[in-house]
Amino acid sequence: METCDHVFYRNLRKDYPLADRAEGVYIWDSKGRRYIDGSGGACVVSIGHCVPEILEAMETQFRRVPFVHSSHFTNPAACELGDLLYAMAPDKSLNRTYFLSGGSEAVESAVKLVRQYWREAGKPDKYKVISRWSSFHGNTTGALALGGHTARRSHYLPIFQHTPHIEPAYCYRCPFMEKPETCALQCAEALERSIMHEGPESVGAFIAEPVVGATAGAVVPKDGYWQRIRQICDEYDIKLIADEVMTGIGRCGRNFGIENWGIVPDLIVMAKGLSSGYTPLGGVMVRDEIHATIKNGSGVFVHGHTYGQNPLSTAIGAAVLRYIKANDLVARSRRMGAHLMDRLSVLEAQEIVGEIRGIGLFAGIELVRDKTTRAWFERDLKVNLQVANQAFERGLITYPGNGGVDGIHGDHILLAPPFTITEGQIDEMVDVLEAAIAHVTRTL
Ligand SMILES: Cc1ncc(COP(=O)(O)O)c(C=O)c1O
Repeated sequence: METCDHVFYRNLRKDYPLADRAEGVYIWDSKGRRYIDGSGGACVVSIGHCVPEILEAMETQFRRVPFVHSSHFTNPAACELGDLLYAMAPDKSLNRTYFLSGGSEAVESAVKLVRQYWREAGKPDKYKVISRWSSFHGNTTGALALGGHTARRSHYLPIFQHTPHIEPAYCYRCPFMEKPETCALQCAEALERSIMHEGPESVGAFIAEPVVGATAGAVVPKDGYWQRIRQICDEYDIKLIADEVMTGIGRCGRNFGIENWGIVPDLIVMAKGLSSGYTPLGGVMVRDEIHATIKNGSGVFVHGHTYGQNPLSTAIGAAVLRYIKANDLVARSRRMGAHLMDRLSVLEAQEIVGEIRGIGLFAGIELVRDKTTRAWFERDLKVNLQVANQAFERGLITYPGNGGVDGIHGDHILLAPPFTITEGQIDEMVDVLEAAIAHVTRTL
């Protein structure tokens, strides 16, 4: 067998098991151990592993034309994917999608698109993008600068352009010391304050995840938050970018997570579930007005990546969306999500479980040292990793994260299983997680 000595790994000291095969919600390693993919990798796998229909679509496209460059050709697969997304859009004004190879590329593209739009709309000074603390938008330097995760950002600060950040909509740890029952949505009002500080004429966009994923663990904002954010953006002529890389394509029980609050963003960034991990694929869906301004202006988006809109990836994306529709998987995500939240409530009895939250098949469990004071664990303990490792040992894959409190502290576990998961498999997941948390609690 190969040595695996010539791959540069993410964690250079970790011994990774060798993934051997996968099917449905399960992955097996080379030693024959079975794992439930409880987080769909990093919130990617939405329709399950090794679905034959996707292989067929992949093979058909491969035999027809695997690659053409987007500067030379369009292709039927990209056109079909565009149509399928248009059919899923929260509003018919969102009628064009620019295809890419992943979430970070899509975030960068959205930001550049807005920048070019404002130049061509005659407002070249509107260049700033406001974002939030306790957020994640990707690891390329532009996207990482917009993110609000101190532990990830601190290594690279000197090479970032400075961008304004506002407080997150994080009720369990309200930055304004308010209670959700009585607050005046100060977290949304913070956007207006930031716009005023920066100067409205200089602000082009606000970007945020409808439900925060990697950096805080399925943090759902209070009702009214997104409506107020939309109002503020309208008032100051600012484009609203919904980063739906995790929350989109059914993950939160709707086509797009933002639809849970009935507002329409100006741009939607997507990736992950768009291809369910069968190929690297991302996209930016934009309102017609943005597309038309550039079409009637310079006529060219000054941007592009080699693999953007490639036939093989877009054919796979189209097959995934067809599969989701044919099997009514968005409704299933909502239904199974309700079962998951219901079953997860058993974890409330655990000493270190502070909050269980989420929407659809997107759930977060925040781990705390003290339930009453909500005190967090020291970072050195890496309690999130301890729990995730214990779950992994027991055959459950989760997505541990940290930094919800202040960009560094705060431990959580994210769950995002494929929508095809059954009630029985959810019960199994929760049992394993319960055992893992109980084990870690005993050793702390
Ligand atoms: C909300 C959000 N945006 C962007 C990204 C970056 O996506 P990618 O890793 O595909 O570049 C991620 C990845 O986790 C994400 O969660």
